[in-house]
Amino acid sequence: MYSINPTKTKAWKALLEHRKDIEKIHLRDWMKDDNRFSTMHVKIKSVLLFDFSKHRINEKTVKLLEDLFNECKVQSSLEDQLSGGKINVTEDRSVLHSVLRDPDIEPLIIEGQDVREISKIESQRMYEFAEKVRNGSIHGYTGKKFKNIVNIGIGGSDLGPKMAVNALKPYSKKGLKFYFVSNIDGSDLNECLLQVDPQETLFIVASKTFTTQETMTNAEVAKKWMIQNMGDVDSIKKHFIAISTNHENVSKFGIKKENIFRFWDWVGGRYSIWSTIGMALCISIGSDNFKKFLNGANLVDKHTREKPFKENIPQIMAALGIWYRNFLNATTYAVLPYDQNLDRFPAYLQQADMESNGKSMDRDGNHVNYSTGPIIWGEPGTNGQHAFYQLIHQGTELIPTDFIASIFIKHPYKDNHEKLLSNFLAQTKALALGRKNADSPFRKFEGNQPSSSLIFNKMNPFSLGALISLYEHKIFYQGVIWNIFSYDQWGVELGKEMAKTILPEIQGAGIDETHDPSTKGLLNHIRDLSNRADNN
Ligand code: F6P
Repeated sequence: MYSINPTKTKAWKALLEHRKDIEKIHLRDWMKDDNRFSTMHVKIKSVLLFDFSKHRINEKTVKLLEDLFNECKVQSSLEDQLSGGKINVTEDRSVLHSVLRDPDIEPLIIEGQDVREISKIESQRMYEFAEKVRNGSIHGYTGKKFKNIVNIGIGGSDLGPKMAVNALKPYSKKGLKFYFVSNIDGSDLNECLLQVDPQETLFIVASKTFTTQETMTNAEVAKKWMIQNMGDVDSIKKHFIAISTNHENVSKFGIKKENIFRFWDWVGGRYSIWSTIGMALCISIGSDNFKKFLNGANLVDKHTREKPFKENIPQIMAALGIWYRNFLNATTYAVLPYDQNLDRFPAYLQQADMESNGKSMDRDGNHVNYSTGPIIWGEPGTNGQHAFYQLIHQGTELIPTDFIASIFIKHPYKDNHEKLLSNFLAQTKALALGRKNADSPFRKFEGNQPSSSLIFNKMNPFSLGALISLYEHKIFYQGVIWNIFSYDQWGVELGKEMAKTILPEIQGAGIDETHDPSTKGLLNHIRDLSNRADNN
């Protein structure tokens, strides 16, 4: 992939100059232009409308950001990714999650295998399995149908399926309940096990590596629980399936071959919802809907590959993020779904975005001299309006936001929905325009807080696929501009390693005297209290 320090580009320098002009202008002034909306929105037919007119930009800003994209060769970097180049250099891997959602892809050989072929076979296996769970022809050890699906996984092996199953609740098969156990905190699994009947419970152990401490610990406890309840080790063969790249470890765990679903190194954990990691979602919404979910993502893949910058939604999203982060010094970016079923979407995006672009080394191993990924956060509206919106409206931070909503609904409460949408519009308007004249300084609103609006026709499997794909591409483009490796995640390793060495100390082994004083003091405190007889 082409590597350039973005601050060395002509466009970057021009943007720094241009910022001085933009800073003088308030969104109130931009909004006096009647053509503002018509020139600053993009539609993807019958799916969504993306409005970016409530941003602190003008045509020149858009042009300069486009120049930046061109100088950093963003489009050719996308082609490097899609053609299977090992763009995840530090892990020596290709990045091909988009293959999983492309029905027309040409044969593509990676490490001796046609990724198109192997992924089709595996998806087909997932579809067949999911359908059999749904119709009861695959059932538990005692012959009872599965009513509870428990996904044990963490990070990318949890957040994607959990978010998507939630988002598409209206499409879920009646009578099935979904649980997502991720935390090493035993109360997570305990809460779940207290609620489910083992005879009716299918565990999906989802782990790319099949070594992750949280997942392996929880899976072992669940396995013991199942064997204890059924009185037969063989029950594991009926009640456990695995999604993993590590077949050796899965087999050792005791899961039978037919119940192992593969994915590959070229699918990153946080980009794996399109693979067999989507099993819980596929069981929930069925294979036809799952295919629609993939098609929605594929539509956006094509859109972003083909459209010029000004009509290219992920590129504009990425460019706006760069503009605020690097030129107007925004440190955070809020994602606010006006859709209760999308309540896990901000958490999902936190991993997708922050694990990808939370980097400070450029692709040549030098410390960057510019800011990279912002803090991503958010909660569904209207809940946030009665909480943290205060700070966005009247605090001291510039906080760009994405507002997400749909027009058509799957519940019968039209009045609720009209009120939801009126709040959506009111908030984006209030943030942009503020209130100049008020009877007291405390009731004034500065305004000038920018937002994008993503309005879907309806939130169905197709739209959800499109929504996720928009953000995946946005994240990729930003990583290209920041000249960082978006597809590795070395920053999560150090804490894991330290936890491994501290565990024996918690369990009673001698305490390492070379620990820093704080860690040593806390360790002693934990051990002292844990050893007390009255610990109940
Ligand atoms: O710790 C971070 C991470 O490696 C994520 O990138 C990944 O999604 C998660 O852990 C889970 O990993 P696995 O699927 O291998 O259990």
